[in-house]
Amino acid sequence: MAKVKTSFFCQSCGNQYAKWQGQCTACKAWNTIVEEVIQKPEKSDWKSPTSTVKRASVPLRINEIDTSKEPRLNTQDTEFNRVLGGGIVPGSLTLLGGEPGIGKSTLLLQIALKLPYKTLYVSGEESQKQIKMRAERINPENNNCFILTETKTQNIFKQIEALEPDIVIIDSIQTLHSDYIESSSGSISQIKECTTELIKFAKETATPVLLIGHITKDGNIAGPKILEHMVDTVLQFEGDRNHVFRILRAHKNRFGSTNELGIYEMQGSGLREVSNPSEILISKKDEELSGNAIAATLEGMRPLMIEVQALVSTAVYGTPQRSATGFNAKRLNMLLAVLEKRAGFKLGAKDVFLNITGGITVDDPAIDLAVVAAILSSNEDEALQSDFCFAAEVGLSGEIRPVQRVEQRILEAEKLGFSTIFVSKYNTISLKDTTIKIQLISKIEDLVEFIV
Ligand code: TYD
Ligand code: MG
Repeated sequence: MAKVKTSFFCQSCGNQYAKWQGQCTACKAWNTIVEEVIQKPEKSDWKSPTSTVKRASVPLRINEIDTSKEPRLNTQDTEFNRVLGGGIVPGSLTLLGGEPGIGKSTLLLQIALKLPYKTLYVSGEESQKQIKMRAERINPENNNCFILTETKTQNIFKQIEALEPDIVIIDSIQTLHSDYIESSSGSISQIKECTTELIKFAKETATPVLLIGHITKDGNIAGPKILEHMVDTVLQFEGDRNHVFRILRAHKNRFGSTNELGIYEMQGSGLREVSNPSEILISKKDEELSGNAIAATLEGMRPLMIEVQALVSTAVYGTPQRSATGFNAKRLNMLLAVLEKRAGFKLGAKDVFLNITGGITVDDPAIDLAVVAAILSSNEDEALQSDFCFAAEVGLSGEIRPVQRVEQRILEAEKLGFSTIFVSKYNTISLKDTTIKIQLISKIEDLVEFIV
C-alpha cells in the first residue's frame, strides 16, 4: 500500500511545514499547525487540466487582446455593482467574507434571483428546500436560477458541464471537497485545491464565480491567506447583527477601486439597497447630545467613521479622573494638556471620560481632532452639529496636523452624508466637485469657534 502523504499547515496563515512545531515561523501564531493528509494532485497538474474545456493559451501582444467582447455582467444591484467597480468581470473569482448570520447567503441568493443570466447556486450548507423557502421571501419569480446541493467539486463541474450556467455561486468554499486531496473539507489543503480548480474553470470558460467564505474570530477569512491572493476580488460583508445595516466593502479588487462601499438594510424580505446612506445618520439625529463627535478614521486601508464620546464633569475629589476606552490614555492626557495651554480650558479640575463607541480600539492619529471636539463640546454642554466629522492629528503646540489618505476619508464622509469635514490646512487635497464642505483649520483655536 502506498504510504499516506501528510503535511503540516498553519491554520492561520496557510504556511506549510514538513514536521510539526509549536509556533508558526511565518505568522508567529502558537498552536496553529495541524497535520493534514495530502496526496499529490496528479491530475490537476497544470500540464493536464481537469477542467471541462481545454483551450491552449498563446501569448498575445497586449494591444491585440480584445476586451470589448467581454463587458461586465450587470448584477441589477447598484450597491453590489458599485463595490465591484461596475459589475462582474467574466472569468473572475470573487470571494465574499463575513461573520456567520450577517447575510452572505441572503445577499448572493438575492443577486442570483435578480440576475437576468442563467445562474447556478451551489450550496453545501442548506438543502434545496431551505434555499427555496428563503428565495420565496426575497423574490419568488425567477426561472433562470438553478439550485444545487453538492460539496464535491468533481460533481459540481459535471453539473456545470450539463447546465452551462453564465454565473456560478458557491456557498461556501469551506464546505467544498475535492477528490484529489484526502483531508477533510475546510482544511487548508482542501480550500487551496478547490479554489485552484475553480480558478481554472473560471479562467478557461470565462464564467464568473462568486464564493462565500467564512471568517475567523478576528475577522479574517478562514483558510489560508493565500486564498485572498488567489481570487480577483475580496469583498467583506460587515455590520452589527443586532442592527439592520450591513456594509459591503472591497478589500481587494483587481478590476476596480477598493474605496467604494455598498450599504444594505436587512428586512423581512431580504436586503434592501440603501441609496441614501445618510438615512443611517438621520435615524440617530433625535439624540443629538453634547460630547459626541464623529471621526473619519482608517482601519488598515479601509475608511471607517467612528463616534467618539466624551464626558467632562467637575472633579469631586482632589485628583481629577481620566479614563479612556478604546483610546490611548497617555494620548488623552496629552490632548488635555494641549487644550489647557492653547484653548484656555481649565480641565485640570475636571474629570474626563472618553469612549469610542462600538467597542473598537483606534490608533489612527486622525481621531485626535474628534476627541478634542468631543471634549470641548461636553465641557461647554453644546452639541456639535451631527453632520460634522473630523480627520486630523493634533500636535503638542495645538497645531492641526495633516493625516494620510485624507481624500479617501473625505470621500467616505461624503458618501455617508456628512455636510462638513474638518481637516488640516496643511493637507494637500486635489478633489474636485465634492458636495461635502471641507473646512480647513490650522490650530485648535479655529475649532473652538465652531463649538462655543
Ligand atoms: P444568512 O444569509 O443566512 O447569513 P450567512 O449566510 O452570512 O450566515 O442570513 C441570516 C440572517 O438574515 C438571519 O438571521 C435572518 C436574516 N434574514 C432576514 O432578516 N430577512 C430575510 O429576508 C432573510 C432571507 C434573512
Ligand atoms: Mg450562509
